[in-house]
Parts: sequence; structure tokens; C-alpha cells
Amino acid sequence: MSFRKASEHGRRNTLFSFFLFCLIIGQGFPALAKARSCRQIFADRDMHQVHLKNSYNVGRGLKDYITNFGEAFETRLLGLSSHGRWLDAGAGEALALRQYMALRKTDAAQVVAVAVKKPEHVPNEGYSYFEGRYVEEIPARELGRFEIITDVYGPLFYSSRADLVLAKYLEILKPEGSIFISGYYGAKSRDNLRIVSPRGETLDLIEWLKSIDGLIVQDVPERKGAYFISVRPETVPSVPKLELIEQTFSGVIPQRVFRVSD
Ligand SMILES: C[S@@+](CC[C@H](N)C(=O)[O-])C[C@H]1O[C@@H](n2cnc3c(N)ncnc32)[C@H](O)[C@@H]1O
Repeated sequence: MSFRKASEHGRRNTLFSFFLFCLIIGQGFPALAKARSCRQIFADRDMHQVHLKNSYNVGRGLKDYITNFGEAFETRLLGLSSHGRWLDAGAGEALALRQYMALRKTDAAQVVAVAVKKPEHVPNEGYSYFEGRYVEEIPARELGRFEIITDVYGPLFYSSRADLVLAKYLEILKPEGSIFISGYYGAKSRDNLRIVSPRGETLDLIEWLKSIDGLIVQDVPERKGAYFISVRPETVPSVPKLELIEQTFSGVIPQRVFRVSD
């Protein structure tokens, strides 16, 4: 076979494999199957980008947030007017917020990002990005109040003061607002976060949250490790103080044990 023929043959093979790849992707992801062309599929996948940086993921996009939190989140987010406010605590690259703003353009709600460390080169035009401070340390008057607070593998997971993080979220949550959290939380599955109750029981974060009067903690149906929290009308939940009694760092996620100290 001549070189030209061989390279033509190779090109046809590549094209065929590319077509097959697109077909498989389209079949495997029904939402993507609706996309008009392969180019569109890749544009969508790019929007969905997930980077691994500094050994933890700071680049989850809007699709990841919607996939994580399901319909309850999507409905609330789409229902926000331009006066509404969404805080992403532990925002990393704030990709979900930026994609939401790009999608809603002029009628987007106000969005605010907070992260101890803002990754370099992350644009922060059109929204506020609080960097360099722990969310639990930022005064509520600086942050304002929110209808939606998200914490996706964020401060609740990483802070050694999970009680202060929760208390801050409740302080800045509007009365009808919801806090959406996602991480390896429930069922003690990963033992990342354990809380020893005054009666000596060991609870995981979700069990502890459910034990706080006035909080309504709901599982996101069929999403493991994702929950949404709201406050019972007319109640002001008080978050018990936690004392850190043990911590180990093996891998990306800290393992911590707290004791209820009051
Ligand atoms: C694993 S990344 C997740 C980023 C983003 N939510 C995502 O899913 O792509 C954790 C983020 O939480 C931030 N973070 C951790 N503890 C925090 C705290 N106590 N206050 C503010 N940000 C915190 C880190 O700076 C980082 O941006």
C-alpha cells in the first residue's frame, strides 16, 4: 500500500472511530444525545469541565452542582430573581457561579464566592469573591443574606470549626432559604467527620444536623452524600459548640472527631 493510500486509510479509520465515539457518548448520556452535533457535545462537555488541582477538585461546574443537588436546587436557582442572592462557600474556581451568570446574563441573581484560596487567573468580574479568609470568620454584615447557600466539598468538610461554619450559614440564610451541602457525609461511610454526643453516641454530620432543633435536613433523592437544609418557620436554631478532639490527615480529606462541648 502506498504512503498516500495508507494515510487515507488511517484518516478514514480515525474518522470512523471518532463517529463511533460520539455515538457511544450520545447513547450513554441521554441529555447529550439531544445535542445537535459532535461539536456541541464537546462544547457541553467542556462546560462541564472538572479539573483536579492542588490534589482536590476546585473546578466543578454548574452541571455538576445541578447533578449533585437535583431538581430542588435547579428549581430554586431558576426561581431566583435578579434581587435574589446565591453564596457558594468553598467556591474554588467559582465555575458554577460564573456559568450561571453567563447563562442568565442580565437577569442573573447576585452571586458571591468565598474560598480560603482563590485559584490564580480566576476572573471575578460581575460578582464578589471573598478570598483569604475562612467563611466562618467573615462578618455577616460583609457577606449579606442569601436565598441559596451551597457547600460542595467545602468549608463544612474542611474546617476544624464545623459548628462555626454552620452557625455562619444560618446567620446569613434568609428565612425561606436553603443550604445545599454535598460531600462524603452520611452513614459514617467515610468516617471523615464524627461527632460524639453528650450521651456518648457517635454521629456522622447528617445525624448531628438532624439532632439540632429547628433544622429540616432532607436527602436529595437518589444522590448519595447530598442534602438540603432549611429552617422551620418561627424557630432560631442554636448550633451546639463542638470541640475538636482528634484529627488525622491521610489523603485529601481530613478525618476529624468532635465532641459536643455545651
Ligand atoms: C475541594 S474544593 C471545592 C471547590 C468547589 N466547591 C468545587 O466543587 O469545585 C474546597 C474549597 O473550599 C475552600 N475552603 C475550605 N475550607 C474553607 C473555609 N473554612 N472557608 C472558606 N473556604 C474554604 C477551599 O479554598 C476550596 O476553594
